[in-house]
Amino acid sequence: MKVVSIVGARPQFIKAFAVSKELRPNHNEILVHTGQHYDEELSDVFFDELGIPEPDYNLGVGSDSHGRQTAAMLEGIEEIIETEEPDVVLLYGDTNSTLAGAIAASKIDPLVAHIEAGLRSYNGEMPEETNRVLTDHASDLLFPPSESAAETLVEEGINDGVHVVGDVMYDAILWGRDVAEDESDVLERVGIGEGEFILSTVHRAGNTNDPDRLESIVDALSNAPLPVVLPVHPRTENRLRKYEMWGRATSEFEAIDPVGYLDFVRLIDASERVATDSGGVQKEAFYLDTPCVTMRDETEWIETVESGWNVLVGANQEQIEKELRVNRYLEEKPTPYGDGTAAEAIVSVLTEYIGEKHMEAVEDV
Ligand code: UD1
Ligand code: UDP
Repeated sequence: MKVVSIVGARPQFIKAFAVSKELRPNHNEILVHTGQHYDEELSDVFFDELGIPEPDYNLGVGSDSHGRQTAAMLEGIEEIIETEEPDVVLLYGDTNSTLAGAIAASKIDPLVAHIEAGLRSYNGEMPEETNRVLTDHASDLLFPPSESAAETLVEEGINDGVHVVGDVMYDAILWGRDVAEDESDVLERVGIGEGEFILSTVHRAGNTNDPDRLESIVDALSNAPLPVVLPVHPRTENRLRKYEMWGRATSEFEAIDPVGYLDFVRLIDASERVATDSGGVQKEAFYLDTPCVTMRDETEWIETVESGWNVLVGANQEQIEKELRVNRYLEEKPTPYGDGTAAEAIVSVLTEYIGEKHMEAVEDV
């Protein structure tokens, strides 16, 4: 089976790492990096430390407006699909790279498969919501991480090709947790002890583009009960500088450059709690038994909130400060996102479909 995998942004490298490990031993994977993320610490670091093979293609699109960025990707991906003639195009998550892959592939021949299908925030202002809805509706095979995500697809009229497989990020973290504990020296580098800090990330457009929301988050974190370690996404650094809050961020927090996956997993595992607006980080905190305060008004990962390990606080200063002090270490934690074998299940479903397609082609001759 020949698979073209489309990646472009930080979380997609981690997801693709988990799937590639299962895919590559028996199949031909062509890896396409759109170049959406290009800084060393947002891209190369993941390829190096996770041993992800060099991309076969790097479109080098870089940063731009949504339309121009997606259009540049679309043009490049279409050409690659026409040249490579894969059986499957594999898409991850909800970024502009995902959407470009979906549009290009769905109008050509290959099966289009979407990993992390069926997730919804129902917030139409999030660019990711547009990307994930359109991608789901352009896909032939859909891999929701949970039963509730599969139900969402059915509610939207998508009944065929839906396979609940679990979350590939859970696969990744089961591998990463122990390796990170052995290999990462990030706590020493930051100069902070286990259980003695809050780990925070902020990068959602809805929080960073709005100076009032961003200021409210900075105010809340500066009153946190423990020191705050803040690996700063470049989008956020740009906005903090623009709104003249960069000085505060660097003096009031342990503001550091974005770190690699293993360092970040170590930081989540060692923190007393996480305060984030990231999708992936909410889940990773949940997997690593670290309570999470989510600085958004809604989440796609509803099971983490229903379990009590995660709480939604928006960008409300009072709420953030309050929830950073609530004990959320609970006795029970459900396992809604599979058992850590999502990648294996995905490869097995793909193999079955492609096998059937080839059989049909032979019968037609
Ligand atoms: C993108 C995804 C978001 C995902 C996030 C993961 C979209 C619409 N958004 O958001 O869903 O959660 O990646 O981190 O696809 N920049 C750099 N260096 C880089 C990349 C970006 O400095 O290597 C800066 C640029 O100023 C750029 C800004 O960050 O304009 C935003 O980058 P972009 O890729 O457009 O969106 P993200 O916020 O990273
Ligand atoms: N991550 C990382 N270093 C960092 C911050 C995050 O390796 O400094 C990883 C994190 O472990 C998770 C992924 O990046 O796997 C989440 O990416 P991000 O928050 O940028 O995007 P989202 O998940 O919100 O789309």
